[in-house]
Amino acid sequence: MGTVERELLLDAFDSNWIAPLGPHVDAFEREMCELLGIGHAAALSSGTAALHLSLLILGVEPGDEVITSTLTFSATANAVTYCGARPVFVDSSQETWNIDPGILAEELKSCADRGKLPKAVIPVDLYGQCADYAPITEICARYEVPIIEDAAEALGASYRGHAAGTLGSMAVLSFNGNKIITTSGGGMLLSDNEEWIKRTRYLATQARDFAPHYQHSTIGYNYRMSNLLAAVGRGQLRVLDDRVSARRANNRFYREALSKVQGITFLPEASYGRSNCWLTCILIDPKEFGASTEEIRIHLESQNVEARPVWKPMHMQPAFSDCRKRGGDVSVGLFEHGLCLPSGSNLNPSERELVVELIRSVPGR
Ligand SMILES: Cc1ncc(COP(=O)(O)O)c(C=O)c1O
Repeated sequence: MGTVERELLLDAFDSNWIAPLGPHVDAFEREMCELLGIGHAAALSSGTAALHLSLLILGVEPGDEVITSTLTFSATANAVTYCGARPVFVDSSQETWNIDPGILAEELKSCADRGKLPKAVIPVDLYGQCADYAPITEICARYEVPIIEDAAEALGASYRGHAAGTLGSMAVLSFNGNKIITTSGGGMLLSDNEEWIKRTRYLATQARDFAPHYQHSTIGYNYRMSNLLAAVGRGQLRVLDDRVSARRANNRFYREALSKVQGITFLPEASYGRSNCWLTCILIDPKEFGASTEEIRIHLESQNVEARPVWKPMHMQPAFSDCRKRGGDVSVGLFEHGLCLPSGSNLNPSERELVVELIRSVPGR
């Protein structure tokens, strides 16, 4: 956090707009739209809330299916279950770690052959890199299935010149504490469809109908963002470019320092876009490197340096064991051999050096 965030937060405080609405909420939405080049935005209490509402807007209900990437954080799949629907998991491509468009095409064809298409496809822009939207959009358009872009990790990234957050019929952002910019907790739903975003705001404020008394013709949610947090978000938006530069510098540093080490490769950056490098992730070949991913993680931890395994695929999670999947071997390999390195925007050079030194000196190599 910097001085601008502090000033805006105090401005919100002094104005006495201490509520899940107010001038900073409106301004945060407007400024995000201008930055990304999208028509409308609703600031919400979390990215998960944004995912939930995006599915409700598309009419997802019990008995429906929604396709998503198996390699993601559980929030993506959880939101599908909140609607009583079932997620269907598609494997990653080895090149981007994102949903594999070829496998998605196979799954959609088999859904069409069975006569039951999913209500939506949710590609996830994993670790700050956009999925490959040109083929994904073409395939989904063929079957008239809408795309919800889960850009929770990817604010500041781009795909063929278009900003992450503008690549589906709707898109979801997260401002959780660990994200590239944060409001401590928060999220946003984005779309060019004004009616959808108006309905999002309505559902997010307990679905109060237009009446002088409390009138509700549908079930609503308490999902709006606080004016205080929106003020912080506005300040953070102004430093987004700095944050992306810092994360990309971390990535460059690790690549230069480790890419010649036998048995270490990096999450590739696809030529179709620019990643925000939210997290720098490596893959370990234990035979070539001489130690396993877990041995590296434990060695780092012994020196109080936190690294985390790559997301465990959803099709391996007990909570989703009864859900359909297509493919899965690639994401299982990424989980078994992948490690997310310390990637904070405020890492200093000696901290990064320490990470590299510890990886090089894993015992037993
Ligand atoms: C891919 C992905 N989707 C959704 C979410 C949910 O966002 P939030 O934590 O704001 O609910 C997150 C992160 O937390 C995420 O990484």
